[in-house]
Amino acid sequence: MAAITDLKFVQGFIRMCNDGWNQGWHERNGGNLSYRIKPEEIESARPYFHEPGEWREIGTSVPGLAGEYFMVTGSGKYMRNVILDAEDCTAVIELDEAGEHYRILWGLSGGGRPTSELPSHLMNHEVKKEVSGGTHRVIYHAHTTNVIALTFILPLTDEVFTRELWEMATECPVVFPDGIGVVGWMVPGGRDIAVATSELMKKYDVAIWAHHGMFCSGEDFDLTFGLMHTVEKSAEILIKMMSVQPQKRQTITPQNFRDLARDFKVTLPERFLYEKE
Ligand code: 13P
Ligand code: ZN
Repeated sequence: MAAITDLKFVQGFIRMCNDGWNQGWHERNGGNLSYRIKPEEIESARPYFHEPGEWREIGTSVPGLAGEYFMVTGSGKYMRNVILDAEDCTAVIELDEAGEHYRILWGLSGGGRPTSELPSHLMNHEVKKEVSGGTHRVIYHAHTTNVIALTFILPLTDEVFTRELWEMATECPVVFPDGIGVVGWMVPGGRDIAVATSELMKKYDVAIWAHHGMFCSGEDFDLTFGLMHTVEKSAEILIKMMSVQPQKRQTITPQNFRDLARDFKVTLPERFLYEKE
């Protein structure tokens, strides 16, 4: 019998973990990934499942995800090891009919539990499943260096982060036209930060956690990784620009953005196109 790691969705999951590691976003056990598995993919994976584990509490309630299956990274696991031993570093879990408990069907072979950010991942999935009409399936958390650095420098508002990052690369407003949300510093791993993040996910595909990292949501691994990569690259340009000279000599203007929106057929909310003094 072939291995579960030969399945396309599992390969995509493993590759994304490794791509993030190669970007330098996953020191030690930093960052985590989850994927809402399609029904036909679950059927292809079922032959590899063991007897289900005990039902355990998620730590929040996600009734909109009742009965869904997810592939998730394990808590304390290193992204750099996923490619070497996915069965130890990741898991496939099933949610109960209340959306309050999960059980492990495969993986975490050396023991352990899903990522400590499971409440944030699942609350984000619940919101995104609803607002995207079921198309969003990937939630990704990474410790992106330049975005984290910016949270010590810029005011922690959606408007400033969105506008400054849009200005750093012409493609940005096309890649994330809805903008970016920002959460001030909070204790990670619990329900409170999950609620705050999922609130932002109603409007945005990107949420920044001050002094910690970023969450991105998307339809598939390519789009979600690409979104994280685009935002972080834009932050890198901003950090480089500010390191050389804090004042911009020239930039992309609000009218430039409006022209871009017209030709690229995206809607850019006017609240991000404010006049600066
Ligand atoms: P986990 O190892 O539990 O996934 O935690 C890593 C992390 O980035 C917490 O925010
Ligand atoms: Zn983290």
